[in-house]
Amino acid sequence: MGDTQFSDIDSYINTLFAPTDPMLEAALEASNGAGLPAIHVSAGQGKLLYLLARIAGARRILEIGTLGGYSSIWLARALPSDGRLISLEVDSHHADVARANLERAGFGERAEIVVGAALESLKRMAAAGETPFDLVFIDADKQTYPHYLEWALRLTRPGGLILADNVIRGGEVLDATSEDAGLRGIRAFNAALAEDPRLEAIVLQQVGVKGHDGLAIARVREA
Ligand code: SAH
Ligand code: DHB
Ligand code: MG
Repeated sequence: MGDTQFSDIDSYINTLFAPTDPMLEAALEASNGAGLPAIHVSAGQGKLLYLLARIAGARRILEIGTLGGYSSIWLARALPSDGRLISLEVDSHHADVARANLERAGFGERAEIVVGAALESLKRMAAAGETPFDLVFIDADKQTYPHYLEWALRLTRPGGLILADNVIRGGEVLDATSEDAGLRGIRAFNAALAEDPRLEAIVLQQVGVKGHDGLAIARVREA
């Protein structure tokens, strides 16, 4: 089966299970209009994030890498009305677009975008004794994924979930000799996720409208 067929079938699945709606459409239009790159998750991937958050009963969600807030909207939709989403973004233009998109989608109160290098924000949150999260979604700069995992572990409650996008990268992840910093980060992240005794994890290979990539799914063990 070729890439076209995978993409067609993904479209078929998305049409059935993650049909677009005015809020998501408006968020993507505003993001495109503001010149943001179209590297957001697909509708189906967003639905999967939403479902994982619902299954986990998540009330507090941390996202690392906001862009225009497309995945943030999917995650925020999984929250109860008194739930909280905090999303970390280094680019203030991206953050402005995301804030407007979240506001339009009705999540102005529930969602907060924190501008700054995510590693610094994570350190600050941990030092300030931030209440642990039920779910952390990692989707920012790939070379820093191993560090994001360490901080995510400190900030996730036992039994909570740590998810990460883009962990297969069209199969480039097989190249142990790559000197690409992002790819090395992803390889180190996957290895750490597999080995860490505090976690039980799997990587879900994904093919479709966003090409070939993968989502890591990990559960933090109770002590
Ligand atoms: N989660 C989004 C896509 C995120 S794209 C969605 O699916 O809709 C990755 C984002 O991470 C970009 O907006 C980029 O600006 C941001 N980013 C890159 N390096 C970062 C860093 N060091 N700290 C915080 N955000 C970063
Ligand atoms: C890139 C980042 C992403 O989060 C993604 O889903 C796809 C691509 C990137 O930086 O190239
Ligand atoms: Mg991504």
